Amino acid sequence: SYLGIDIGTSGVKALLIDEHGRALGEASAPAVEPVRPQPGWSEQNPADWWTATLAAIDKLKASHPAELAAVRGIGLSGHMHGATLLGKDDEVLRPCILWNDGRSAAECLEMEAALPSLRQIAGNIAMPGFTAPKIAWVRKHEPEVFGKIAKVLLPKAYVRLLLTGEHVEEMSDAAGTLWLDVAKRDWSDELLAVTGLTREHMPRLVEGSAASAQLKRELAQRWGMDGAVIVAGGAGDNAAAACGIGAIRPGEGFVSLGTSGVLFVSNERFSPNTEGAVHAFCHAIPDTWHQMGVILSATDSLNWLSRITGKKQAELSGEAERQFRGPGEAIFLPYLSGERTPHNNAGARGSFVGLSQSTDTAQMAQAVMEGVTFAMRDCQRVLADAGTSINRLLAVGGGSKSELWLNMLATNLDMEIALPADGDFGGALGAARLGLCAAEGVKPEAVMTMPPIKTTIAPDRSLSAAYFDQYARYRALYPAIEETRT
Ligand code: XUL
Repeated sequence: SYLGIDIGTSGVKALLIDEHGRALGEASAPAVEPVRPQPGWSEQNPADWWTATLAAIDKLKASHPAELAAVRGIGLSGHMHGATLLGKDDEVLRPCILWNDGRSAAECLEMEAALPSLRQIAGNIAMPGFTAPKIAWVRKHEPEVFGKIAKVLLPKAYVRLLLTGEHVEEMSDAAGTLWLDVAKRDWSDELLAVTGLTREHMPRLVEGSAASAQLKRELAQRWGMDGAVIVAGGAGDNAAAACGIGAIRPGEGFVSLGTSGVLFVSNERFSPNTEGAVHAFCHAIPDTWHQMGVILSATDSLNWLSRITGKKQAELSGEAERQFRGPGEAIFLPYLSGERTPHNNAGARGSFVGLSQSTDTAQMAQAVMEGVTFAMRDCQRVLADAGTSINRLLAVGGGSKSELWLNMLATNLDMEIALPADGDFGGALGAARLGLCAAEGVKPEAVMTMPPIKTTIAPDRSLSAAYFDQYARYRALYPAIEETRT
């Protein structure tokens, strides 16, 4: 069997599959929520990822001991871009600055000024969520920490270090650092130099479907495994989700409603489009790339409404669904953590517009779900500007449990959206599949198939015109809030 471990911002999921890719069992453990020491900042302790990883696998040992003992390959998936700073003895130097941390906007501008070819080499705009600008921030504001840096790892590479003892990263996650020459699939000395680093500070690179290292003997013993257990390169959580739903050929994609929201599409070649803040990254399998639009607060927007109203997310979306009659008066801009695609503005903040005396929580929940939907429509628009068309879209992530949200998405993207039958595996299934490829030398195309589909949601054309107008109103609001903070 094969084990996929998905290190998410809100928890770790471990999934066992057999050689046909069928799920044998899963377990998860919550992570300590990110802390926000200042508005717009977001940090987590790397030790918490390890605690949650051990807890999830130990649970599998209790529920599926034989299947766990038979594991031959492990794949890792992780939240992307986080800067895990290690000293010379691999000690963690400060809490990890996460993907949704916006503190480094000034450093992004400085980096682009210092290396005018930065966008060309990296294929991406310097955005505060990426790893390199965070190091530039640490160099400026915490020089004593910067001076001690021996290695910079992404979250899943840190977990890999504890699993195997080796510093290794793979292409899809490495592409989100802003230190990778994404076309060449290699670290760029020029990009590294902009933040005062060299290749010495970087982990070794492998492809996601290739072997990266072997599981430590004492951990193999703890989980009852014998023989060599291969740990695959794995993938950033988005590329891993793509492997899990079989989106590896050009035009195949997914829309993800997780903490963040993602519109992902595979490309046969490197296809940068820095206008519109499109992410152009390596895929987790050789000679393949992908683009994505990323919004920072998808289900996290509903989380926020849930926190301030005291109503659970499902309760809110249920209320919205019951009273839904088409777009209402209220409009919500989901920029609670700033925004990447299409604005690249870490200082942007969320807004509610069009409230009246009769606005209730159900209407606010609807507006939040619509605001996130419009933000995904923005992503589709800038991907189309890059000449990319999506010919197959599956929905993933916690938000895809809401039928109303999927209907809004299908209508606004004007595309059919397919919903996988088997629950929400996130990156864990794709990671397990990469573990299978690395352990057995199987070709990724043979393994990365599309899952059985439960339903396909078609656009509701009776609402298209009303949504066209509402989306236009939504877009017109951004210029008014653009300058609120920098
Ligand atoms: C992608 C991104 C997020 C995280 C979430 O660029 O920042 O989707 O990977 O875990």
